[in-house]
Amino acid sequence: MRRTVHLVLLAFATVFLPPHPAETAEPTSAPLTCIFGAFDDELTPLYQAITGPKEEVLHGIHFAVGKLKGRNVIVCRSGIGKVNAAMVTALLVQHYRPSELIFCGIAGGINPDLHPGDIVIAAKTAQHDFGNLTAEGMEVRGTKSPMTWLRNPVFLEPDARLLAVAEAAGNRIKLADIETAKGKRHPRIIKGVVATGDIFVASPAKKAELRKALGADAVEMEGAAMAQVCRDLRVPWLVIRSISDSADHNALQDFDSFTALAAQNAAQLTIEIVAQLAARPAAERAGK
Ligand code: ADE
Repeated sequence: MRRTVHLVLLAFATVFLPPHPAETAEPTSAPLTCIFGAFDDELTPLYQAITGPKEEVLHGIHFAVGKLKGRNVIVCRSGIGKVNAAMVTALLVQHYRPSELIFCGIAGGINPDLHPGDIVIAAKTAQHDFGNLTAEGMEVRGTKSPMTWLRNPVFLEPDARLLAVAEAAGNRIKLADIETAKGKRHPRIIKGVVATGDIFVASPAKKAELRKALGADAVEMEGAAMAQVCRDLRVPWLVIRSISDSADHNALQDFDSFTALAAQNAAQLTIEIVAQLAARPAAERAGK
């Protein structure tokens, strides 16, 4: 009898109660862009650019809520690694229901043509440390959605419109030339493959493996985790990364030397993306 009452109540709730906000993940009426980075160095240029920021704290995580180029934004620090990125993504989506999420930060360069300060806009992102490790080596596999139990593809791709906005923004910004031992060079911006894992890569062997197995252009520690959560919660996402090191013997040293430059360049592109989003006509925003 109690079981029947439970079933009737469940049926009633399913039919008549509105879905929980996170289940619909529809953006709030005023467009809102959430931007996050793993640590403060990645975020400093963004915090400096926000106007009228107010601090909100959820479960001890600090969110700077303000405006950037006229658009409502939230900037926050996720902490390093996939678990932290996944947690903050879920929290942001559940609480603020953003129109899109952007990860803005630095990365190790895997593509030999990339140098400190260059930018990779992720056209694809994959978790390089999820899969089967056998005597033959690492076989990367797609994760499984806890909601549908279906396997995700190894490579997750951002929303095509958002990617196009990022490319257009990349064509508009003027990054500063970089002084190198061989003279000045102008930073490049490419669309590419960003590999994510819970490892700071400072190994030529791992670097070669990531290039061969995934065609990776850059490696970092959060992007694909954010992308996976956004896929399940149906929120558009982008990953913007600027190169701080070459993921090899010198990676730790280069990281110290080039993090500020790389963070500045990633933030400059991200700010222009937000400006482009703010300038889009309402009809386009609604996908008409
Ligand atoms: N972020 C910046 N450089 C990195 C590297 N070499 N490996 C992983 N994440 C990074």
